[in-house]
Amino acid sequence: MTDDATSGTPHWSFETRQIHAGQAPDSATGARALPIYQTTSYVFKDTEQAANLFALKEFGNIYTRIMNPTQDAVEQRIASLEGGVGALLVASGQAAETIAILNIAEAGDHVVASPSLYGGTFNLLKYTLPKFGIEVTFVEDTTDPESWRAAVRPNTKLFFGETISNPKVEILDIEAVAAVAHEAGVPLIVDNTVATPYVLRPLEWGADIVVHSATKYLGGHGTTIAGVIVDGGTFDFGADPEKFPNFNTPEESYHGLVFARDLGVGGALGANLAYILKARVQLLRDLGPAVAPFNAFLIAQGVETLSLRIDRHLENTRAVAEFLDAHEQVESVRWASLPGDPFFELAAKYTPKGSGAVLAFEIAGGAEAGKRFVEALRLHSHVANLGDVRSLVIHPASTTHSQGGDADRLAAGVTPGLVRLSVGIEHIDDILADLELGFVAAKAA
Ligand SMILES: Cc1ncc(COP(=O)(O)O)c(C=O)c1O
Repeated sequence: MTDDATSGTPHWSFETRQIHAGQAPDSATGARALPIYQTTSYVFKDTEQAANLFALKEFGNIYTRIMNPTQDAVEQRIASLEGGVGALLVASGQAAETIAILNIAEAGDHVVASPSLYGGTFNLLKYTLPKFGIEVTFVEDTTDPESWRAAVRPNTKLFFGETISNPKVEILDIEAVAAVAHEAGVPLIVDNTVATPYVLRPLEWGADIVVHSATKYLGGHGTTIAGVIVDGGTFDFGADPEKFPNFNTPEESYHGLVFARDLGVGGALGANLAYILKARVQLLRDLGPAVAPFNAFLIAQGVETLSLRIDRHLENTRAVAEFLDAHEQVESVRWASLPGDPFFELAAKYTPKGSGAVLAFEIAGGAEAGKRFVEALRLHSHVANLGDVRSLVIHPASTTHSQGGDADRLAAGVTPGLVRLSVGIEHIDDILADLELGFVAAKAA
């Protein structure tokens, strides 16, 4: 058996790695479960070791804003599940998106992105990044590689998209979009939150960097906000020093370290860790959205049962999609694995197990019927979240996607009568009976 590049974990199957990757029994105590290292700091052996740690001549624990042993186990586990060389766990999915982008793009740079995104990510790209001097072009047609190519400018530094978009359930043609990104000499970052690595591993299709809201299926129980960045180690930021000066000029705060040269493809570490280490030692250090050790532990607990939960989520989602598709009060259903869906073929290619457990539908009667439907449900919780074991419902136009203009909402697929479900793992009979309650109330409206 060979070992996993990052964690020393043998090449076990996904189901085994979700439990064991990145964690052996605690060497100090023998504790079998993952200990919560609830500490801010770590005693240095001597002044020389302290100086080496600060100068990155030696890697190890300094301060929990930058790394922590509980966090480290989760990072190794998720890197293993995605097939990356390293990961960084942070305080939220939004922090992961922000660091993933700012680690590459700076003032004067340009990003090409899909418009079919979670509302919070759309806000970051459309309103906040421009305040940092980063321009963003949203492609016109995410399914057309030419549309991505046409958006490229000389100062473009990265492409960004969601593998399964929230809430439109569009499937990104990762292979085609990655090819255009690489032709332009830039990496492709994808948000794989809705899919999870159990359903889809974007690095295997050519994406370079993966981000997650770990708040969702990785944690899985609606208890914890966290985010993660996984680096495939595939993109060489040293290949074009003019395009990526931030990876190729000496970093004064680390005594002249050059990330791409010293930590990248030809560096001393044996793997291309320039991107993920820079994210940690520069941006996490300076911006500070560190994950709490207890939250890292809760994400680890969730990941241990990821495949089991996702199998059940998908089984239930298929039944819900078929139920909605046959319902007289439903005008359309968006779940890419449903035959007839415009993304059915891409779903068959990229998500053969099923296109996630989030689906959306257009209810007859528009916004008013949508609101009545949501209010009548008893089992489904009306919350701004997805990826919980519990079934959840929301009316995106008045909540998650309310903070932009009508045109932006429509580009993200959010019509007035759209209802989004995050299908839980309860008994399917109870889920369907609850949805029927909603339809009865919507009809009365
Ligand atoms: C697809 C997607 N990405 C990112 C986020 C942001 O994650 P968080 O809420 O953990 O900051 C969300 C949150 O809903 C999401 O659905």
